[in-house]
Amino acid sequence: MSRIAKSIFSPKLADYFDTLVTIYPVKRSALVPMLLYAQDEVGYVSEAVIQEVAQRLDLFDLDVRSVLSYYSMLRTKPAGKFNVQVCTNISCMLRGGYEILEHCKRRLGIEHKQTTADGLFSLEEVECIGDCCSAPAMQVNYEFHDELTPAKVDEILNEYAAEDRK
Ligand code: FES
Repeated sequence: MSRIAKSIFSPKLADYFDTLVTIYPVKRSALVPMLLYAQDEVGYVSEAVIQEVAQRLDLFDLDVRSVLSYYSMLRTKPAGKFNVQVCTNISCMLRGGYEILEHCKRRLGIEHKQTTADGLFSLEEVECIGDCCSAPAMQVNYEFHDELTPAKVDEILNEYAAEDRK
């Protein structure tokens, strides 16, 4: 195992990564899970994350960067505190997914992959999030919201904004 002199991650996550690299037959297989955990803790996949993950897996930084460009759920810039992901895949599209996306854009004043000036919300158009039966659907961080209407979206976004003020 590559020894990390001073990890950028919390001691708990660094310990978990020490274990994670041992459970796959090929060390590199831990790359995507490791990046997702790192993103959850750091907020995005920063340069420092790339370097430490590469070191832990005995990879080049470039190996990590090539994975980043492939997986849309990995981001290299900080997202808002609440990352709004609106599905426009087939079931959602047929039930107003684009209307919901456009409503979010107007309401938040941002476009796909942008973050509000106060850092509270970011917005993404995404592929199926597995909630097709209750389309149209969106995900905010790890919470699902479905059977959406523009009015329901407003309520949901108001609740997150209120949560931030607590
Ligand atoms: S198509 Fe939108 S959740 Fe599946």
